[in-house]
Amino acid sequence: MRAAGLNFPDLLMTRNMYQIKPDLPYTPGMEGAGVITEIGPGVNGYRIGDGVMFRAWQGCFAEEAIAPASELLPIPNGFSFAEAASFVVATSTATNALLQRGALQAGDTLLVHGAAGGVGLAAVQVGKLLGARVIATASTAEKLAVAAARGSDVGINYTKESFKERVLELTDGNGADVILDTVGGEVFEQSMRCIAWGGRLLVVGFASGRIPEVKMNQPLLKCFSIVGVRALEHVKRRPQEGEAYRAWMLEWAGKGELRPFISASFPLDRFGEALRLLEARQVIGRVVVEMSASGRSAAAAVQS
Ligand SMILES: NC(=O)c1ccc[n+]([C@@H]2O[C@H](COP(=O)([O-])OP(=O)(O)OC[C@H]3O[C@@H](n4cnc5c(N)ncnc54)[C@H](OP(=O)(O)O)[C@@H]3O)[C@@H](O)[C@H]2O)c1
Repeated sequence: MRAAGLNFPDLLMTRNMYQIKPDLPYTPGMEGAGVITEIGPGVNGYRIGDGVMFRAWQGCFAEEAIAPASELLPIPNGFSFAEAASFVVATSTATNALLQRGALQAGDTLLVHGAAGGVGLAAVQVGKLLGARVIATASTAEKLAVAAARGSDVGINYTKESFKERVLELTDGNGADVILDTVGGEVFEQSMRCIAWGGRLLVVGFASGRIPEVKMNQPLLKCFSIVGVRALEHVKRRPQEGEAYRAWMLEWAGKGELRPFISASFPLDRFGEALRLLEARQVIGRVVVEMSASGRSAAAAVQS
């Protein structure tokens, strides 16, 4: 392993608050990148020394990991190991959400919440590539500036002003055609009040810590859809569509148009600090851990 990206679910899993509850002790880390050192029997198409990136539910904050060949993806041209290790989960989620689950069309208005988070920033880029006008929300000016640098057309600090009012203003009262929500709670509830007739509200996550509840008269009155997103499950259940979104994102990554933003990097043995940064809502894009010969598995840190 050369690098592993931190995802919000890593944090939830270490607190036993995620839908997947690993047996203890376990080594966290749900995605990473590295160089193949061994190949199992019956695996074709790879050679020792190939650089690869992959998703796994656990085990990536370590010096070595085992991944099924079906999860391996080639590292896009020009990506560092740290970028490759931060790409698959967020970009798969954003691509599956906007291309397939939300059917975003060129000319649509897309509202992305938590737009400087891992998934959020990927969604800003995917939204622009699909031809949407992208409105980003985030909690600081610095986060909004990074979202703008990655293509968002308008930024709203949703801790300082009502994004609902701004979105209605910006869309002549129509609302956003597609809303991608990684935050949940109040943000989801206000989103139902600024979505367009026939819009798609994409439920991606609940980083705020609160799973919202819906009064069903709201989707009825505005004929909008509430659409769940689970990109990695989509690959398993509908492999052809999974292949299609993966091919789409790899093509744009290869052209340099889709790229993760890394705001901090730690050596493996300081992985706890990386996790705390995520917890403190201070990460922009992604934080990564990078491995060295002297690194050690993070499992010991988690147990302690
Ligand atoms: N459904 C799927 O397939 C899928 C896949 C991956 C992740 N997820 C989920 O999607 C969400 C985002 O994941 P991620 O890896 O992109 O996380 P992330 O990089 O930490 O981004 C989450 C964003 O949420 C915002 N936020 C609002 N309230 C927060 C709070 N109380 N604590 C922390 N952040 C808060 C933060 O932006 P501001 O500070 O700007 O508000 C932050 O940038 C998580 O809930 C995760 O579990 C779902």
